[in-house]
Amino acid sequence: MSEAFKMDEAQPRLLDETGQGLIGEPLDRPEGRLKVTGQARYSAEYAPERMVHGVLVRATITRGRVTGFDDSAAQALPGYLGLFHGPRFIRNPAQGMADEAPCQPGESIDYHGQPVALVVAESFETARDAAARIVVHYDEAPGAPVAPDTGEIEENEKRKSVQGDLEAAMAGAAAVVDAEYTTAGHAAAAMEPHAAIAEWRDGRLLMHGSLQMIRFNKNELADALGVSPEAVRILAPYVGGGFGSKLGISSEHVSAALAARALERPVRVVMSRQTVFDAVLRRTETWQRLRLGADKDGRLTAIGHEDRVSNLEGEGFAEPVSAATRFLYSAPNRLIRQHISRNHRTPSGSVRAPGEAVGMFALETAMDELAEKLGLDPVELRLRNIPERHPVTGQAYTARALAESLREGAKRFGWDQRPETGSRREGEWLIGMGMAGAGRSNMLVPSAARVTLSRDGALVETDMTDIGTGSYAILGQIAGEMLGLPIDKVAVHLADSDLPGASGSGGSFGASSSGSSVFLAARKIREILAQRLGCKPEELKVSGGEVSGGGTRAKLADLLPEPISAEAKIEKGKTAESHFSAGFGAHFVEVAVSEVSGEIRVRRMLGVFGIGRVLNEKTARSQAVGGMVWGVGSALHEELGHDPRTGHIVTRDLANYHIPAHADIPRDMEVVFLPERDDQANPIQSKGIGELGISGSGAAVINAVHNATGLRLRHFPATPDKVL
Ligand code: MOS
Repeated sequence: MSEAFKMDEAQPRLLDETGQGLIGEPLDRPEGRLKVTGQARYSAEYAPERMVHGVLVRATITRGRVTGFDDSAAQALPGYLGLFHGPRFIRNPAQGMADEAPCQPGESIDYHGQPVALVVAESFETARDAAARIVVHYDEAPGAPVAPDTGEIEENEKRKSVQGDLEAAMAGAAAVVDAEYTTAGHAAAAMEPHAAIAEWRDGRLLMHGSLQMIRFNKNELADALGVSPEAVRILAPYVGGGFGSKLGISSEHVSAALAARALERPVRVVMSRQTVFDAVLRRTETWQRLRLGADKDGRLTAIGHEDRVSNLEGEGFAEPVSAATRFLYSAPNRLIRQHISRNHRTPSGSVRAPGEAVGMFALETAMDELAEKLGLDPVELRLRNIPERHPVTGQAYTARALAESLREGAKRFGWDQRPETGSRREGEWLIGMGMAGAGRSNMLVPSAARVTLSRDGALVETDMTDIGTGSYAILGQIAGEMLGLPIDKVAVHLADSDLPGASGSGGSFGASSSGSSVFLAARKIREILAQRLGCKPEELKVSGGEVSGGGTRAKLADLLPEPISAEAKIEKGKTAESHFSAGFGAHFVEVAVSEVSGEIRVRRMLGVFGIGRVLNEKTARSQAVGGMVWGVGSALHEELGHDPRTGHIVTRDLANYHIPAHADIPRDMEVVFLPERDDQANPIQSKGIGELGISGSGAAVINAVHNATGLRLRHFPATPDKVL
C-alpha cells in the first residue's frame, strides 16, 4: 500500500461533493433486519463439525497460588474430554488492558473468580457439570486487601499536573467549593456475553470472537499462543455491545484456542453472565476531591481535582478520572493528582468513556455548587470560564461548540423557567432542573480500508468492527457518496482480520478513523476515474451511472472495463500535536423527587452536541441517547457490590446490578447536533459521539435533584436512601 495520509493541516474537504445525498442522512442500518430477525450470527452461533464445549473453572480464593488440579470426579462423566490450562499472559500494558489465560500450577491467583482452567466436554451440560467437580488445590495467602482504602496506595506521577498555587488561590477566592465525591464501580454488561469459537486448520487459528479491535486482538492472541500474527484469523461480523469489555482478548479466547489445538477439534467457550461480571474488567470505584475557587465575577481562579482509583498490583491502567478537568475550563491555579490503591478485586479497565464518565460527576456538580455560592446562573458560570487554549498543554482547540451548546440548550429546554431551589411541588413530588457541560476527547487511530468499484457497484473492505454502533451504515454511506452510488449498490464487508487493518471500535474513534480511510480510498478511485475521463479530480462528477468533468462525459460502465480497487490508510499527523480535539456539548435534565420514597424520576433530558460532521443522523442519535441513558444509570442505579471478605463481586447479573429499565427513561429525550465541521480532526471533519452522551449527563441529573430539593448528593449512585 502507498503511504498513509497524515492530518498535517486543516482539511476543508467536501465529503458530500457528489450530491448523492447520503452523508448525514438517517439511513437504516443495512444489517438491522438480520439482527432483529435473529439471522445475524454472533460469535457463539456457529457450529463447526465436531465442535466441543468449554467451561471456565474459576478461583475460589482471593490470593495465593494454584498447586494442582484434581479432575478424578470429572473423569467419571461420559463425554468429559479434559482440563486445559496455559501460560499466564499479561497483555500489552501500554493499552492498559491485562488479562489472564487459565493458569498453570504454580501460577498466582490475584482475585476471587479469576479463571484458572478450562474444562472441555462433548456437550455444554457435561462441561458445566465437570467444571463443578474439579478440585483446585491452592496455597492460599490470607489477608489480601480487597477494599480501596486498605491496600498499598501509590501516586500516579503520570497524572500529576500543577500550575500556580492552588492553596493560595483558594484562600483568596470570593467563593469556594471543597467537596468529596464517590462513584461506585461499574460493569460494561454488554448484552452479548463474551464468546469464542476456536478452530485450527492446517496450523492456522480461525477465531470467531466477540471483540472490538481485531487488528490488535490478532497480535494479542498470537502472543498468547506463541504463533505469528499471520497464523491467526479473527472474524467478528456482529458484536452485541462492547463498552470497553471487548477491547482486548480475554480468557475465553486463549483457553478455547489452547484446547482446540490440543484436541484437534473446534472448541466453543461462552461466558455465563456471572463469569462476565467476575472475570472481565470492571470500572474502578472512585474517590474524588474537587476544589474550585472564583472571583466575585465568577471567573475561576483555582481548580483542584484529586482522585483515588483501584486496580491489581502490576496493572498499567488507571481510570483517567480528571480527563475532562484538564481541558474543559480554565483557571490560573490548578492541581490534578491521582492515587492508585492496589487491591485484589477483579482488575479494572476501560468501561465506556473511561475518565469523563465518572470524573465529570465531581467537576460538574462542583460547578453547580459554585454557581449557587456566587448567585450566578450555572450556564453563565460555564460560559465565563471557557479557555482560549488547552489549559495544560497550551494547544489550540479544533472546532469547539461548548458555548453554542450551552446557549442553544438553555433556549430549547426553557432554562429560564428553572424554579427557585425547592420551590416547585406537585403533590409529594418536588420538581427541578439541572444542567452540566459535556466534553470527551476525540482521537484519530490509524485505520486502513480497501474500496473496489465495479460495474455492479462498490465494495468496502476493512477489519473494522460494528459493535452495534452503525459502522456498516456509515461506511457504506461514505463510499456511496464519494462514488455517486445509491446505498443499495454499496456492499460493506467488515471484521475479518485478513482485511486491511482498521482502528477498531473503542474510545469513540471508530467512525471517524475508519470512515476517513474509506473516504481516502474512494477518493483514489475518483482520481483514477478522472484520469480515465481526462479531467481534473476536482472537476469530476459521478452520478446515475454517468461520469462528467472538464467538458467531457462518459458512462461509468465504459470507464470500468475491469474493477478499480484502491486501498488507503489514515494516520495522525501534525494537527494531533498542535491541536486538541474533543466533542463538546451540554446536558439539561428535569427531575421529580418523591419526598415520601426518595425516588428520583427523570422527566426530560436534552443533549446538545458539537461533534463535527454527523455521518448518519440516526445512528449518531442512538449513540447519544445510549450515552445519556448510561448517565442516568451511573447517577441513580449502577453499583458493583463486593464481598468485604473476599472482594468477590456479588452483583453478578442484571437483576442485582441495576441498570435503567425502560420505565426509568423519559420519553422526552431530545438530542440536537449543532451544525459543525471539524477541519483539523480528520479529512471527513467528524468527531466521536459514542462516549460524549455519558460525559456530564449524570451530573445534570444530580444538579436537577438539588434544584428540586436543596439536597447536595455527592455519592453515586444516588439511591433513595441517600435522598431521604
Ligand atoms: Mo471504549 S471504553 O474505549 O470501548
